[in-house]
Amino acid sequence: MTDEGRAHLAGIIEGRRSVRRYTANPVPDDDVERMISAFRWAPSGSNKQPWFLIASRNAAFNAAAAGAVRDEVAGIVRRAPGFAQTGENLVRYATFFEKAPLVFYVAGEPQPSRWRKQLEALLPGHPAAGASLSWLVSTAAAIQNLLLTAHALGYGACWLGAPLVARERLERHLEPPDGRRLTAIIPVGRPAETPRPPARRDREETCRRVD
Ligand SMILES: Cc1cc2nc3c(=O)[nH]c(=O)nc-3n(C[C@H](O)[C@H](O)[C@H](O)COP(=O)(O)O)c2cc1C
Repeated sequence: MTDEGRAHLAGIIEGRRSVRRYTANPVPDDDVERMISAFRWAPSGSNKQPWFLIASRNAAFNAAAAGAVRDEVAGIVRRAPGFAQTGENLVRYATFFEKAPLVFYVAGEPQPSRWRKQLEALLPGHPAAGASLSWLVSTAAAIQNLLLTAHALGYGACWLGAPLVARERLERHLEPPDGRRLTAIIPVGRPAETPRPPARRDREETCRRVD
């Protein structure tokens, strides 16, 4: 890769922001496919590709998903009024995706790892035995590929975890293939805001070199 290419890549990585407001401009098929392709080409543990992606430009479908989040939070607040303030914030950060012209719904597939299962059988209680998070971190890599590609194409996007408060309700609406678990929602559109980069923690606090 040339110096120019490297500088461009760093610019894409560092210039990506979580964008939460979008213009109504539709996202054309070619760009949707570029984002899908970036998602599919992520690395994954044992190359299991433990994910499923739903790309929706259907405003009614997306509004119904946001409605599911509101209904779930309203139900929680009815049962636990102390959650009212948190619920209000959660809804604010969990439902704006309905205003985006394109929404991706990401479902990961929790999968056991063969070697961890074997270890569990042979040495129960070993710290590496049992459940694996490989499916989740692999799906996260795919999400980041998608976000970077969206940014490189001039779109704004945002990784949303807050809607998972209504995961089961959302899964009834989205109907991902069996065994897939909703992991994130990602609205995408031309940016209608230019957010300032939120500060990063000090390098020394988050990185260490061993030479
Ligand atoms: C796992 C995860 C979940 C997130 N969930 C939400 C969310 O539900 N709503 C939201 O508005 N932003 C969400 N974000 C975006 C973060 O707030 C954002 O990445 C962070 O503030 C840093 O800003 P930047 O993405 O512009 O660098 C989430 C990000 C990640 C990685």
